[in-house]
Amino acid sequence: MIDLRSDTTTRPTPAMREAIANAVVGDEQNREDPTVLELERRAAAFLGQEEAVYVPTATMANQIAVRILSRPGEELLAEENSHILLNEQGGPAVFSGLVMRGLPGRHGTFAPEQVAAAVRDWHSGHMPRTRVVVVENTHNSAGGRVWTLEQMDAVIATSREHDLRVHLDGARIVNAATALGVPAAEIGRRFDTVQLCLSKGLGCPLGALVAGSAELMIAARRAKHLFGGAMRQAGIVAAAGVYALEHHVARIADDHARARRLAEGWAAAGLAVDPSQTETNFVHIDVGSHGLTADEGVERAAAAGVGISWTVDPSILRAVVHLDIDDDDVERAIELLPAALGASDRVNA
Ligand SMILES: Cc1ncc(COP(=O)(O)O)c(C=O)c1O
Repeated sequence: MIDLRSDTTTRPTPAMREAIANAVVGDEQNREDPTVLELERRAAAFLGQEEAVYVPTATMANQIAVRILSRPGEELLAEENSHILLNEQGGPAVFSGLVMRGLPGRHGTFAPEQVAAAVRDWHSGHMPRTRVVVVENTHNSAGGRVWTLEQMDAVIATSREHDLRVHLDGARIVNAATALGVPAAEIGRRFDTVQLCLSKGLGCPLGALVAGSAELMIAARRAKHLFGGAMRQAGIVAAAGVYALEHHVARIADDHARARRLAEGWAAAGLAVDPSQTETNFVHIDVGSHGLTADEGVERAAAAGVGISWTVDPSILRAVVHLDIDDDDVERAIELLPAALGASDRVNA
């Protein structure tokens, strides 16, 4: 199986496993694990923030961030198909008492005018106070699409004018930084809080970081403990994170080049793929225009030995390139998938 379902499917490389095996560990909950402390130091610098806190998952990192930026009864704004609104079981409402409001997006982005228009007149005493804006870069359900620095700056400036706090769901900030040709810190430093997932493009078995000012990170550590995320000898996995920040950042550009090659190869073979939409490591395939449902598309691809997966759009499937996909996999997938999905039978061709 050429597994293009998600960049979360990677397995630790032999060198990463060696780093894990050699990890020096201690009690993380007591802040005595040297490897976790080292990872937090490196991640803070990497993300352009004062401090970072190591947590088990990117979902927990998002939930901690919005909790420490708000009070119960306040309102969170995010793109309507963002991970925090669609895929975290209403966590901001459950854990932080937030009202959640989705803004219609364009390729996962929204405009400063939308933020300004959404801010509620809470002084009247009736409405929730609009308080937190979440930006997701790259944007998962939009297909790994990238917010430019200018787009982020415009939304952040308007948010600040309205006294709103800004969080970056940077699960794939390394992909965004690579696509923009800037260090991740150049993106991360713009926000009040930013999270980075270690188990996507960076190839770790698990782990994420939430970063922000030293003051905010005191609150983040408390929230982490409250959520049950304070660990013990966590250096055993944090070692993978230290390794990944050293060895797996530059190679993200390879994933992007391979995704581009896939998109171009599939489009040339008649699949409904628009290569210009592949900005990072995702390729979207419009199986609806081949007369297939998403389920049929996934099944046919799997039968041909290619793993692809669903998106929020019932006619669009996605392929995601990652550390465990090499050039040969790409060439084989270019051969196998068009035939499996009946590229020559395309309805709207
Ligand atoms: C943009 C984004 N944020 C957060 C997450 C949450 O990651 P996890 O499921 O590892 O907690 C994901 C996972 O796909 C994601 O794509």
